[in-house]
Amino acid sequence: MTEITEDMIFECFAAARQGSDLNATAESFVDVEEYENQIMYPEFARWAQQAGYPKLATLFRKVAGEEKLHAVWLRELYQNMGIPTRGEDTQRAVDALTTIQANCDKLIGMNPEGVVEKALRVAIRVEEREYLDIYPHFRDQAKDSDNPAAAAVYQKVIDSEHQHANWFRSALQEYFAGSPEPAMA
Ligand SMILES: [Fe+2]
Ligand SMILES: [Fe+2]
Repeated sequence: MTEITEDMIFECFAAARQGSDLNATAESFVDVEEYENQIMYPEFARWAQQAGYPKLATLFRKVAGEEKLHAVWLRELYQNMGIPTRGEDTQRAVDALTTIQANCDKLIGMNPEGVVEKALRVAIRVEEREYLDIYPHFRDQAKDSDNPAAAAVYQKVIDSEHQHANWFRSALQEYFAGSPEPAMA
């Protein structure tokens, strides 16, 4: 049985892509945020629960709920969007998670701490990628397209993803503080 590596978990996250116009960007954003809400963070919550970290599971579920809110905030500006086309990167992420899930329960049983720690590290990287890189570009594209309402939503999301990263950083510290033998990175 193959170990679940940090890279494998990272592959389970999709990155939103800036489109050629603001509508295409919005569609990719909603696609990814709804994926995080419906699939990725609930799965992390399940891992944490199964590994014996119920408090961390609650945090993952709380963040999942906020990813949903991010999509809702933007949908208010794009009321005819419907279900966005699933992006290539989101489909890749769904497939990567399906591959892991085939044996992930057994792996969590064998090494629960390892999986939880890696999930937290990946969550931090993904939130950082969003608030430091991807979403600031979306905000600037909205500004340049004279759409201050969309720019304001993206800024609100940037602040929220920043907070998610901070929550996960604290959770990782708490995890190390409570763990008798912190694994080396
Ligand atoms: Fe988000
Ligand atoms: Fe987030």
